[in-house]
Amino acid sequence: MLDLRSRRPALSPSILNADFGHLAAVVRQLEQGGADYIHLDVMDGRFVPNLSFGLPVVEAVRRATTLPLDVHLMIVEPERYIGDFIAAGASIVTVQVEACVHLHRTVQQIHAAGALAGVALNPSTPLAALEEIVPFVELVLVMAVDPGYGGQTLIPATLRKVERLRRLIDDLGLPAVIEVDGGIKASNMAAVLEAGADVVVTGSAAFPPDGSTVEAVQALRRAMGRR
Ligand code: DX5
Ligand code: ZN
Repeated sequence: MLDLRSRRPALSPSILNADFGHLAAVVRQLEQGGADYIHLDVMDGRFVPNLSFGLPVVEAVRRATTLPLDVHLMIVEPERYIGDFIAAGASIVTVQVEACVHLHRTVQQIHAAGALAGVALNPSTPLAALEEIVPFVELVLVMAVDPGYGGQTLIPATLRKVERLRRLIDDLGLPAVIEVDGGIKASNMAAVLEAGADVVVTGSAAFPPDGSTVEAVQALRRAMGRR
């Protein structure tokens, strides 16, 4: 079983801003640059205003790499699709707290289907919404932007939330790792890690419009410091 704690700090680039016409090549570039996981942003046009992609893309990425797939479901009623995403190759399935009425059951469903469970929190959702579930998950995803689009600016107050979550997890000695997602680039990487992130998601920063993805990911890795 994948141990998220053995790879801290980890980099999980999102393919949201990739050229989907060359997906397999893009995934190889992320791998070459030093990605630990591949982050896949699934959007349904309901939980978030935007649509992205679904199962066939997850399957295609699964065929293109041996890296663990970190699937972020920004969809309503995620429980309807959890088994399918795990069958498609997800190693980690993260659901949004705001989209789940019976979150404990949903986490159990992810575990029973053989994946690690993550729970994500929007910027305006208080940490208290998670307190009861943190002991049961492998990952907590703190959104640093309102989800739906790549290329937004990190909301600084969300890093204070990361600090409080770090204390909560450490004080209780819980195994969950903290992932942070939204607006992260080389220039604010240190602040994100200092706040307590274990896993960092980068979307647009991995895909400079006129630059190399391999080099961009290498630069992000350097900004994370040596492991
Ligand atoms: C936001 C997604 C993010 C996004 C990050 O809705 O959950 O994973 O792709 O992209 P950047 O790093 O550009 O904010
Ligand atoms: Zn995401």
